[in-house]
Amino acid sequence: MRHLLILVIALASLSACKNSSKENKEENMSTKDVHSFALPQEAVIRHIDLDLNVDFAAKQLRGTATLNIENLAKTDKLHLDSRDLKIDSITLDDGSVATYEMMPAVPFLGSELIVHIKPNTKKVKIAYATSPGAAALQWLSPEQTAGGKQPFLFTQSQAILARTWIPLQDSPGIRFTYKAKITCPPGLMALMSAENDTVLHPDGVYTFNMPQAIPSYLMALSVGDLKFHAYDQRSGVFAEPVTLDKAVYEFVDLPKMVSTAEELYGPYAWGRYDVLVLPPSFPFGGMENPRITFATPTIIAGDRSLVALIAHELAHSWSGNLVTNATWNDFWLNEGFTVYFESRIMEKIYGKDFEDMATVLAEGELRKTVAEMGADNPDTKLFLNLEGRDPDDAMNDIAYEKGRFFLLNIEMAVGRERWDNFLKQYFAEHAFQSITTEDFLVYLEKNLIQGDGALRNTKIRDNIWVYGTGLPDNFPKVESVELKKVDQLVAAFKEGKKIESPQGWSTHHWVYFLRTLPDSMSAAQMKVLDEQFKFTVSGNSEILCQWLEICIRSKYHQADASLENFLTSVGRRKFLKPLYGALAETPEGKIQAKAIYAKARSGYHSVATGTIDELLK
Ligand code: BES
Ligand code: ZN
Repeated sequence: MRHLLILVIALASLSACKNSSKENKEENMSTKDVHSFALPQEAVIRHIDLDLNVDFAAKQLRGTATLNIENLAKTDKLHLDSRDLKIDSITLDDGSVATYEMMPAVPFLGSELIVHIKPNTKKVKIAYATSPGAAALQWLSPEQTAGGKQPFLFTQSQAILARTWIPLQDSPGIRFTYKAKITCPPGLMALMSAENDTVLHPDGVYTFNMPQAIPSYLMALSVGDLKFHAYDQRSGVFAEPVTLDKAVYEFVDLPKMVSTAEELYGPYAWGRYDVLVLPPSFPFGGMENPRITFATPTIIAGDRSLVALIAHELAHSWSGNLVTNATWNDFWLNEGFTVYFESRIMEKIYGKDFEDMATVLAEGELRKTVAEMGADNPDTKLFLNLEGRDPDDAMNDIAYEKGRFFLLNIEMAVGRERWDNFLKQYFAEHAFQSITTEDFLVYLEKNLIQGDGALRNTKIRDNIWVYGTGLPDNFPKVESVELKKVDQLVAAFKEGKKIESPQGWSTHHWVYFLRTLPDSMSAAQMKVLDEQFKFTVSGNSEILCQWLEICIRSKYHQADASLENFLTSVGRRKFLKPLYGALAETPEGKIQAKAIYAKARSGYHSVATGTIDELLK
């Protein structure tokens, strides 16, 4: 009898505990996401089964998405997000055909898809096809790849583009598991943000399983002529065969990065960690798709100097993928934490002097961004208000760098040991949850500040950082011994002295050197620099981009061919924006920009053309 009583109490407390964690999640689901039509408090997706056929000729994915839902409110309507999808039919798990309404399309949000379900409906099977212009999909012809022989497809779902290739609830506050069957042309390899086979399936049929719940913006697929190299049991690189050797050399520190990240903030939760090197039209530097980071080939510099980007995407395996921003207004929770974490990984592997350079460079860029935006611009707050706007438009340095410096400031206020313990616990306690900015601030107060008014109001000042514009005056001070040496060299150059060629400089030294030069220089100065340092033919994309910007402003036309070659072969928005932007500052430059853009545009991703169309219009 006593045993039975204990059992009953134990079971009751277990289920209470379960309920409270569930309530917690549902609470976050009820945080209004202004970028989704979903009403997850009524009925929510818990799992998706995809069965899709990849048709390169039609630039189309066609097949079915079976949504496993939990009908919490016993509602008769399931509200989904979709954009440019063609629905063929919708059926329910009782075999009946469901009626549905496709609402009129709203700019960038797409069309709400309302499916009429039943109180006991558990599965909704949607037969559909994507449109050739689907914003998340980039279909590359063989000529647009590095190898030049096979076509290539990759997806980019963040922030709200998953709805252009899957009908679903496209909100980062909603998590689900998925399985997929992908059929592609024989000879090509398909990869997803899931468990991946590393070998080619001759029949072109691949199956995937993602057993951990993820938000929709992490749904990812890539199909192409790909090969794999393993570094160890857990990590490796996928790339086109002609790129693979270079990629393998460049990312050799991958296993060390994963173990270093684990030493900092707890176990890696996703099984494998691989990197996929995409063709150069990928509009971002990297995308943290779970288990398989998608990366631009522009970080392959030949000297392993641009691998911070890999540390960044890896760090998202904790900040972002494990603990996710509940809405895009909370974007800094993903990116600010990730830049901070990235920096800690880099410091641990490559040393403090090296990372201090990156931090000082970042502070410079952040100050420039804030000056351009205006220190009272509401978009310089960490917590954003993106209602009525495309989240993509407000994604700049603020979330990344103001976010990182806020966290660095807390580290400096409480000491590294206490802060690291707090962060480790933060990741563990919020694993597989989506949280809001306010959730974080409450957790910070409860677990770190703990009522210490002086700590809160004079040292940390979290409310000012998060809800205030511009940069607070308790901005952390970081100095770089190495960059001071660069300052001396630039000073000598400005005085017209002949400068010695520095030995052993990293990309950070060079980028800082170029940023510290005057905005516009004489033809003679440009020639001296170019002859001594060969910037125009640099194979390092960061150095080249920085140099080309100076060339444009200084009207150094000897670099025109290099500029055109760079803009027509690379689609990374981070490089396109400053270069087209600098060209657009003068009437002649704008003509040159438009001529180059006319040749390059078809090779760019919609994310990039969206930005450059606007810039050159
Ligand atoms: N998750 C972002 C990319 C992203 C952000 C895509 C917002 C769509 C909307 C990724 O982790 C990222 O931040 N990439 C950076 C590189 C990083 C080193 C700062 C990029 O692509 O430049
Ligand atoms: Zn990021």
